Formats: sequence, C-alpha cells, structure tokens
Amino acid sequence: MARIIGGITTSHIPAIGNAISKQMFEDPYWKPFFDAYPPVRDWLEAEKPDVAIVIYNDHGLNFFLDKMPTFSIGAAPEYQNADEGWGLAPLPPFQGTPDLSWHLINSLVAEEFDITSCQEMLVDHGFTVPMSLFWPDRTSQPGAQQIKTIPVCVNTVQHPLPSPKRCYKLGQAIGRAVASFPEDLKVVVIGTGGLSHQLDGERAGFINKAFDLMCMEKIVNEAESLTDHSIHDLVREAGAQGAEFILWLAMRGALQGKVKALHSNYHIPISNTGAGLLLLENAP
Ligand code: DHB
Ligand code: FE
Repeated sequence: MARIIGGITTSHIPAIGNAISKQMFEDPYWKPFFDAYPPVRDWLEAEKPDVAIVIYNDHGLNFFLDKMPTFSIGAAPEYQNADEGWGLAPLPPFQGTPDLSWHLINSLVAEEFDITSCQEMLVDHGFTVPMSLFWPDRTSQPGAQQIKTIPVCVNTVQHPLPSPKRCYKLGQAIGRAVASFPEDLKVVVIGTGGLSHQLDGERAGFINKAFDLMCMEKIVNEAESLTDHSIHDLVREAGAQGAEFILWLAMRGALQGKVKALHSNYHIPISNTGAGLLLLENAP
C-alpha cells in the first residue's frame, strides 16, 4: 500500500529561485533563510520518498483569470516549467506518475470534489521553487531516477477561493486516496506558499508575524481549529496573498497518522513575505 511518510510546507517566493540560480547561499540577506533547509533535505535523503504530491497555486502561467478551476490535478508523464515573467530561468521538466495521479483524481471525484484533470500542465514558481529547495540535485545526474511528482493546484488567485475547511477536507481525501493505492510507495505531501504577504494595494508589504507563528504552531496538532477561519479572516490577518495558507492546510489534512514536527523555521522578510518552513513526520 502507498503510505504518506510526512508533510513539508515552505514559502515559494520567486526571488528564492533567482537566489538559488545565483548561488547566494552565503549572502547575508539569504543565509538565514537557506540555512533552514539542510535538515529537511537530510530527512528526504534518509527517507527517500518515491512520490511528492505538491499542493500549490498557479499564479497565471497555466491558468489565467479567464479560466480558473478551483482544484486541478496533473495526470501527465511530465510537467514543463516556462518563463512566467519573474526573471526565472525555466527548469528542466518534472517527472509525473500518471497511475497514482488518476487514482487520486478518481478517488477525489468519487468523494464529491470536482477536479479538473490536466494531461498537460505547466508548473510555475509555486511548484518549482520548493522542488529546487528540497531536491537541488534533481537533474544533476543525467539518467538518474528523479522523484516523481503530482501537481495539485488550488485557486488562491481569483475569488471566490475555496475555504480553509474545504482545503483541509481536500487534504483528508488525498490522504485516503493514497492509503488505498495498492502499490508500495512512500509519498511526501508538500504544501507551498504563505505565510503572510500582500503584493499590491494599500497594504502592500503587510506581514503579520504573530499570526504566522500561531498558524505554524497550531497546524502541527490543532489544525482543525485553524479551519474555522474564513478566507476573509485569512486575507485580513495575513494579507491578500497570505490566503495561500489554505495550501498548508490541505497538506496537513493529508496526514492521517501521528504527526510530529521535526523541524521548523520562520524568517522575515524574504521579498514581501513571512517565510515559513515546516517538516512534519506522519507515523502510522
Ligand atoms: C512573492 C511571494 C509569493 O507567494 C509569490 O507568489 C510571488 C512573490 C514575494 O514575496 O515577492
Ligand atoms: Fe505565491
């Protein structure tokens, strides 16, 4: 049976991708941010998951405001990245795993989640930046086995957005779907985005450290209490783009076992954002 061994959340700020390509790991601005990631990479190296389910939001590369599915899931053998206008060099493609993708889509639709299935899907910085942080050597050895990925895209861009409660339930349904997949696979679930940030309007630059730290603490073992927030509560407390926290809640919903925080970090600011990192182990 497939098994979710843990969940990881991280902010997905495009500037991180640029700092990685310029190798600014020792730069005084970036060092305290990048120094938080080796423990997560060590855990991944030790656990060796076969598949990463990446719950993220597209910011206008694959979906635009004219057509915006609430929940969409990739079912392709590979996912391309492309220039999305942040000055990020496009990355080599990410491997998919269509069998498990279709199993997720079938299971979620059977559980009354209306999923847009995508047999072609461009993945943007919401997906690629966390992948580069966690698997920096993903493509360095030609022909080597890469981690397989399933992009799960949630609308956080065009209102109305799905509620925190709905996203948590989506995660729970993903957890059940993985547990019913007959192949012996180790799966890690990644939630990207957040924490507090607002990129435009009167409150541009808004960050709420107290709210971010409260969310990072409660999501470990009191996540359901966070699902009482509405989207408007999240926007008020964490900024317009702080609503990306619903992606963290979807990740957390997928962990059905005994959840323990193995590592966490919070650092402000990175660009306009309160940057959070959390590694949760999911023991049977
Ligand atoms: C920033 C943060 C984001 O989540 C994003 O998608 C784009 C930019 C930022 O802080 O610069
Ligand atoms: Fe974002």
